[in-house]
Amino acid sequence: MLDEAVRKDFPLLDRLVHDGKKIVYLDNAATSQKPRQVLDALNEYYEQHNANVHRGVHVLAEEATALYEGARDKVAAFINAPSRDEVIFTKNASESLNLVANMLGWADEPYRVDHETEIVITEMEHHSNIVPWQLLSQRTGAKLKWFGLTDDGRLDLSNINEVITEKTKIVSFVLISNILGTVNPVEAIVRRAQEVGALVLIDASQAAPHVAVDVQALQADFVAFTGHKMCGPTGIGVLWGRQELLEDLPPFLGGGEMIETVSMHSSTYAPAPHKFEAGTPPIAQAVGLGAAVDYLSAIGMDKIAAHEHAITEYAVRRLLEVPSLRIIGPSTAEERGATISFTLGDIHPHDVGQVLDEQGIAVRVGHHCARPVCLRYGIPATTRASFYLYSTQSEVDALVDGLEHVRNFFG
Ligand code: ALA
Repeated sequence: MLDEAVRKDFPLLDRLVHDGKKIVYLDNAATSQKPRQVLDALNEYYEQHNANVHRGVHVLAEEATALYEGARDKVAAFINAPSRDEVIFTKNASESLNLVANMLGWADEPYRVDHETEIVITEMEHHSNIVPWQLLSQRTGAKLKWFGLTDDGRLDLSNINEVITEKTKIVSFVLISNILGTVNPVEAIVRRAQEVGALVLIDASQAAPHVAVDVQALQADFVAFTGHKMCGPTGIGVLWGRQELLEDLPPFLGGGEMIETVSMHSSTYAPAPHKFEAGTPPIAQAVGLGAAVDYLSAIGMDKIAAHEHAITEYAVRRLLEVPSLRIIGPSTAEERGATISFTLGDIHPHDVGQVLDEQGIAVRVGHHCARPVCLRYGIPATTRASFYLYSTQSEVDALVDGLEHVRNFFG
């Protein structure tokens, strides 16, 4: 397990709420807290280097550009990208996913999604990996298909050859579910997609903060994630894509920075990644993400993953001891991440969340932007506790005690 000293890096973890109760922050799947190293990098950027990038000749513009492009180098190394030019900065994972959907909608053959083709997703996607594909399907007439779920919260791949077919153009799925915590079997899905020549997009938003994500090992064509769940600031996301695809595919947003030349009749585009980064980019946010990547790398993603696995194992065991608690998702710590959703008898999750909050325990309640999962399991919502590198066993104990209090409160 990681040393509790790691908590000292996160000023917010000392926050007192509700008449002096120390915060127990268990909403890390929504957003992580930020270490001082990231806060300092953001401050230093604004205090010492703030300028626009790529266009100035003055010293500040050169420094800001070096910091922004340096962040790209850091992210590329963090995900083992073969080239820094394969790392596109966006504003969040949703924008990264929408970018791919739009690239494919406007693309020429062989990538073009049209009425004769199919798009494949899964029933456990976040809305941000459902809605862009619904929009693309409505616009192009492409058929939208998905993998269903088993009763224990895993993907049902028993019909993989019927779901992914010769007509499939893109398979887009989440690596670790933000509601069920399930870790999905990438290899089997990628193998089948490759058999039929479909592209693969992996939503790694709940994976990149917690485990080593190696884009070459995943063998996908695109990988999307966001900065704010991995100790970085909000307003910065990443889309990694294979270089030859980024060269071939059309841009989505037009504007400054993404062009080579512009006349009143037409334009030519800058090479990737700039082709996909129209306008002033999220400069400070990229610098902050670079600092977050440095921070996580210095600790080591393997150590973080091992710590979270131990916490998850403990939390699953302790939660299952709570009478009437039902875990929605895998009920063991194997092949699952550090996010645990549950129901507590027939007490509404909003009531659970409110009574926990009064005790200083921050969880998320609702459908977690994954409403089809709640529909699948016949529940309106869940309570979700999600852990990170600074989570401790005593916080799990506080949650379990808090749930006992909820049960007593509601009789
Ligand atoms: N996508 C974030 C979550 O699952 C906000 O909570």
